[in-house]
Amino acid sequence: MTATSAERLFVTTALPYANGPFHIGHMLEYVQADIWVRAKRMAGAQVHFVCADDAHGAPITIAADKRGITPQQFVAEIAAGRPQYLNGFGIAFDHWHSTDAPENHAEAQAIYRDLVQAGLIDVRPVEQFFDPERGMFLADRFIKGTCPNCGAKDQFGDNCEVCGAVYAPTDLIDPYSALSGAKPVRKTSDHYFFKLSDPRCVAFLDAWTQGGHTQSEVANKVREWLLPAEGSTAPKLGDWDISRDAPYFGIRIPDTPADSPDKYFYVWLDAPVGYLASLQAHCAKAGVDYAELVRPGGPTRQVHFIGKDIITFHTLFWPAMLKFSGRKTPDDVFVHGHLTVNGEKMSKSRGTGLDPIKYLSLGLNAEWLRYYFAAKLSGRNEDIDFVADDFVSRINADLIGKYINIASRTAGFITKRFDGRIGADDPDATEMLQSVRQGRNDVVRLYEERETGKAIRQIMALADEANQYVARKAPWDIAKDPSRSEELHRVCTTAIGLFANLTIMLAPILPRTAEAVERWLGVSLQRWDALRTHLPAGHVIAPYQHLMQRVDPAVLAQLFDAPAAEASKEKTPAAPTKTAQAATNNVATDVLPGGEALASGITIDDLAKVDLRIARIVQCEAVSGSTKLLRLTLDMGEGRTRQVFSGIAAHYKPEDLVGKLTVVVANLAPRKMKFGVSEGMVLAASHADEAAHPGVFVLEPWAGAQPGMRVS
Ligand code: 2FM
Ligand code: ZN
Repeated sequence: MTATSAERLFVTTALPYANGPFHIGHMLEYVQADIWVRAKRMAGAQVHFVCADDAHGAPITIAADKRGITPQQFVAEIAAGRPQYLNGFGIAFDHWHSTDAPENHAEAQAIYRDLVQAGLIDVRPVEQFFDPERGMFLADRFIKGTCPNCGAKDQFGDNCEVCGAVYAPTDLIDPYSALSGAKPVRKTSDHYFFKLSDPRCVAFLDAWTQGGHTQSEVANKVREWLLPAEGSTAPKLGDWDISRDAPYFGIRIPDTPADSPDKYFYVWLDAPVGYLASLQAHCAKAGVDYAELVRPGGPTRQVHFIGKDIITFHTLFWPAMLKFSGRKTPDDVFVHGHLTVNGEKMSKSRGTGLDPIKYLSLGLNAEWLRYYFAAKLSGRNEDIDFVADDFVSRINADLIGKYINIASRTAGFITKRFDGRIGADDPDATEMLQSVRQGRNDVVRLYEERETGKAIRQIMALADEANQYVARKAPWDIAKDPSRSEELHRVCTTAIGLFANLTIMLAPILPRTAEAVERWLGVSLQRWDALRTHLPAGHVIAPYQHLMQRVDPAVLAQLFDAPAAEASKEKTPAAPTKTAQAATNNVATDVLPGGEALASGITIDDLAKVDLRIARIVQCEAVSGSTKLLRLTLDMGEGRTRQVFSGIAAHYKPEDLVGKLTVVVANLAPRKMKFGVSEGMVLAASHADEAAHPGVFVLEPWAGAQPGMRVS
């Protein structure tokens, strides 16, 4: 990696709309950026990696309205759901903020005022459709009507889904408001424009977009948008309407005339400013000098990872906003393609059938997905496809079969035959060790270039060499001959040294595995300069525990099953048959289920008093001073977490519970315990005679259940 320890980076991913949970496309971008950031950190760079919820805009206001809550409450609920995804997939943002935070209000208004000073803001009347019942202007997507081209009914205001015609909302026949059904009227109001057609902006953007700040294929596309049409001298880029009239959930435009209605910034004006607001909040928290990080001409490289659908905002509007408000402009805009799943295109709001939380709750390993994405990603703006069979083969054949295999075939000998002591390297392996050394520099460069697919190919080629070495030496045969003990020690030492090197190379992609290997080997591996060809002779390593399981294709297939709720809608539940009823009535009374008699009968009303809810275990830890209890932090979809103590410490390791769903008695009165207040009870099964039938089994719902759902 070309980074020196002095390299400073401010890295962001696109700010997701706070109108719904993450879908798999979000995770692709976060994984890509996270890998890049981790690789940079391994090179010693100081990285500030931040993101935020994109909180404003009409769709969020309308969604909140439908639920009868404020947009702020709506956004807070969405924000509370973010950590389970980010922690679940090992995405190490330094800070997560909101574009509705005070820093963003202040910075967006400051940028606007600077643009006014630069003479780049214009006010012009604009005629739009207005919903007289709701008292609001309607964005194109909230106007429907009959297609002027083919006559199809109920088409959106910008294009017809039947014939594909593109038109203005005012062209629709019999338009109506999708919000109230009312006939919209035309109404004029003043709008604020950022004058992107100003020759200063055009000249700047022409230079900036061709200045190596984004991939060449992206720069070429942007140039097409920027260049005037043939034979015309007029700039192609129009001025940008940056205002919306109240009611709008957004940031007030300052200094508007006292007699005009309230004006707000269009969401896309304040959204990218959220990058700065999030960095500012992070700096305040971490005691870092924010002004220095964003100083024009300063040493910090500003890097944005984005998807291809938002190129214009990041390569035209955003750099121009920053430039002409006297701020530092972005250094890199890295654009990635879209994700299809088994060839199916993803909808921006709904995502695809591949739900990240379902993935985790099925017990599928987050590092598999990180590895798979990395194997498919390149530095170019290309789409990638998630293909289930390909996923299984890359994980089972490559990641497990090639990489993990090196350790699992050799580590046991070090423990059993040499008390965990590392020996000397095998002189026969000199050439291979050299190729690892050479391979390392390429791999580090490929990470810098976001060519993770190529990096993985190189790493797997080295893993192949290492496996061939192990197969050639056959330590399992050497082990049969006690006189060849030294040779066995050398071969296994060499193999484990190679494995440590491969782990370092994979660490940005597989951070949790790298941590597990660090614990096993007792060395630090998440720095490029930790790359070495052998572990010090005499160093003692812990007994090997298997590092990663294979993917079970049947479990992966469940990821694509229709959600339980959907499936049940399709079938009418059968009424219990007479035989089934009879069987229920004829329970043998001398059998005690689970070792105890059933409790006396209750009514349905009694049952309704017990509020059972699905909860996600977001954190779990041992309780110091107690051998019985674990402290669980539960998310029940309430926009906050709860602390619950559970007497299961003898049966579960805390880390095995994190990320899982369970069932909680949610309305149990909080109980003050020695170690804190417990706000609920986690349900678990056990036999009445625990000594004869040991085990306590925490309940876990079937896939598809979500935190907060009632169990009834
Ligand atoms: O396309 C989107 O999901 C936007 N919310 C991205 C905003 S990126 C940045 F400008 F905030
Ligand atoms: Zn049509």
